[in-house]
Amino acid sequence: MEQLLQQIAAYKQEIESLANNGADSLEAYRIKFLGTKGIVKNLFTEMKNVPADQKKEFGQVLNEFKQLAERKYESWKERLESTADRQTTAIDLSLPGDPLTLGTRHPINLFLNQVISIFNRLGFSVAEGPEIEDDWHNFTALNIAENHPARDMQDTFYIQQNPDWVLRTHTSNTQIRAMERSQLPIRIVCPGRVYRNEAISARSHCFFHQIEGLYIDENVSFADLKQTLYFFVQEMYGKDIKIRFRPSYFPFTEPSAEMDIQCLICHGEGCAVCKRTGWLEILGCGMVHPKVLDNCKIDPNKYTGFAFGMGIERPAMLKYGINDIRLFSENDVRFLRQFTSAT
Ligand code: PHE
Repeated sequence: MEQLLQQIAAYKQEIESLANNGADSLEAYRIKFLGTKGIVKNLFTEMKNVPADQKKEFGQVLNEFKQLAERKYESWKERLESTADRQTTAIDLSLPGDPLTLGTRHPINLFLNQVISIFNRLGFSVAEGPEIEDDWHNFTALNIAENHPARDMQDTFYIQQNPDWVLRTHTSNTQIRAMERSQLPIRIVCPGRVYRNEAISARSHCFFHQIEGLYIDENVSFADLKQTLYFFVQEMYGKDIKIRFRPSYFPFTEPSAEMDIQCLICHGEGCAVCKRTGWLEILGCGMVHPKVLDNCKIDPNKYTGFAFGMGIERPAMLKYGINDIRLFSENDVRFLRQFTSAT
């Protein structure tokens, strides 16, 4: 017994002093200590020679020794594996790097950014407003009183929890917020998503995007509005583009107009896209109604201003040759990947 215990202590020391060298040494260690004819097995066969009253003590010492030998094997093996991993990455410099996957911009954003950059050059900055809006900013302040038939021009989504809240039906809410907040003069464009309860089809959706412009200062005239919009379409569609203004009605502008550009497909000849008229309607506009200025505590006798608003989806569809508005919101990467900032 005494002899056996001494031997075990010596083996323990041997194991602890072993360096964790390469895979060959590990295998030699395994065979020597843990193999079927190894030291651990042999010690267990010595059990029968130990006197009965010492079997328990010897059994314990032997089990501890066995565990020590196994732990050594496991940690040695783990170390070898992790250094092997490190060595491959450290050595193989010819491996290609991880590719950086570069996304593409959404066509709506590409189009919006173009519009914004044109107005930037005229001194307009970007303002944004909330998509969940209260009645005042979406309707009342814009001179659309309760029960006013103009509320039916846009089918509104109301928020169930609060009847005063709507999903904004146009970006004109941002006009009001800017006029309430900003110092004059104001020269902003307001891009964003808007919502209307319309049946979803290839031509229309229950949400879409608009960009609205607003300019308030002393002596702003309808001529300024026309010239600004003329500059915009020339920059966007080329110097030869023809435009026309038609009188129209919006509760928040007076006078109001709609602007058409000559059809980009048939150049005025008449085709299916322009419904044989030769013209495409692209935006609504007008001089900000004095009541709207008043609602925002701006003196209508001192200041005047113009506003315009246009949808993004339709012109973007024309520009990129997209024939279904639903594609914009389906997140199909095969569609989205086709657009780059260069187009
Ligand atoms: N808010 C209008 C719409 O959604 C567009 C518009 C904006 C018209 C500003 C005139 C002035 O149709």
